[in-house]
Amino acid sequence: LNNGLGATPQMGWNSWNAHGCNVTEQHIKDAADAIVNLQLKDKGYQYVNIDDCWQDYTRDAQGNLRSHPTRFPSGIKALADYVHARGLKLGIYATPGTATCANFWNGYPGKLGSLGHEQQDANKFAEWGVDYLKYDWCRANLDGVNRETAFKAMRDALQATSRPIFYSIHDEPQQPIPSWRPATANSWRTTSDIRDNWSSMISRAHLNQPLASWAGPGAWNDPDMLEVGNGGMTDAEYRTHFSLWAEMAAPLLMGNILSSASPATLQILGNADVIAVDQDPLGKQGTVVSSSSGLVVMSKVLANGDRAVTLTNETTTTQTISTTAAAVGIGGYPSYTVKDLWTGATSTNTSGTFSASVPSHDTVMYRITPVGSSGAVTIEAEASGNT
Ligand code: DGJ
Repeated sequence: LNNGLGATPQMGWNSWNAHGCNVTEQHIKDAADAIVNLQLKDKGYQYVNIDDCWQDYTRDAQGNLRSHPTRFPSGIKALADYVHARGLKLGIYATPGTATCANFWNGYPGKLGSLGHEQQDANKFAEWGVDYLKYDWCRANLDGVNRETAFKAMRDALQATSRPIFYSIHDEPQQPIPSWRPATANSWRTTSDIRDNWSSMISRAHLNQPLASWAGPGAWNDPDMLEVGNGGMTDAEYRTHFSLWAEMAAPLLMGNILSSASPATLQILGNADVIAVDQDPLGKQGTVVSSSSGLVVMSKVLANGDRAVTLTNETTTTQTISTTAAAVGIGGYPSYTVKDLWTGATSTNTSGTFSASVPSHDTVMYRITPVGSSGAVTIEAEASGNT
């Protein structure tokens, strides 16, 4: 969506994975404080997003949404002020039909969707100082709503407020991707809800990996939010989760309770080298270079010509995973500087073959810089298949 936002994938925190429908304004304030205190703000985390269940059960006499009186007693404007005072931005949640997902699935009372209230709700969000909207489908088809029409209606309503508001959508079905999405939203979900376990996470990676051609500045594939630190996976599995999301230029929306996060969790979420891969200004989603028997290699081209390469072991035993400079698109150089983004170790490689022993469910991630010049002859020969 060409609204000047999302030149790189959005980074921040969202309340859903940690708090679900019990979210309170204190949770949001705590998250904002932790992002600042833990130096995660300096790493690029910016949006603090309230998900579903922030609303009171009815609209007011003028038809305005309002916040829940006991869980958000100070109101959204006050919360936006609090978050802005810390140099962060506030996100909120709405749906295109008559009900939110929580109205359907969580027994949350009311009919709090934005159908017929699109401009009124967008205006209210802008008036409160909201910077981000998650617009979640939630069976709006039951209200006879057309997907393209509905998501464009809120896009236009947000634009009409003239406040810059990042627009994240969850359209269902998530795939195949309809061609109108990149011009309609800054990001769109490509999978159903993630859960905090290995098979849920890795299957979402698999569903998102083939979609690179859709992604670019202002318009990102969203395989759902991060579960890093929520306790259902090992640190190796969370490293894979974070590595693959960065490799796929996915939104990095933390979903754990930050104030009690372990050092290992903070090391994963705060890895500046991995974040730099996600946030690389070229905005290319990485692609699968090879995949066989659970050993998966991905490569992402970066703005300075480097490649970010992930070696993921999806099997249950330690495995050696290898790839080559040619396979990741930088063949023919006399040498390469290789930085291991999880250990921080840097080495020189002259063979053009990159191998690592990777523990079960872990990922080794390299940033590979070609050194010297590649022979033009080699490139030509490669291009014509004459090697
Ligand atoms: C479904 C979405 O996919 C989730 O991320 C979350 O927003 C819930 N709805 C909230 O009800």
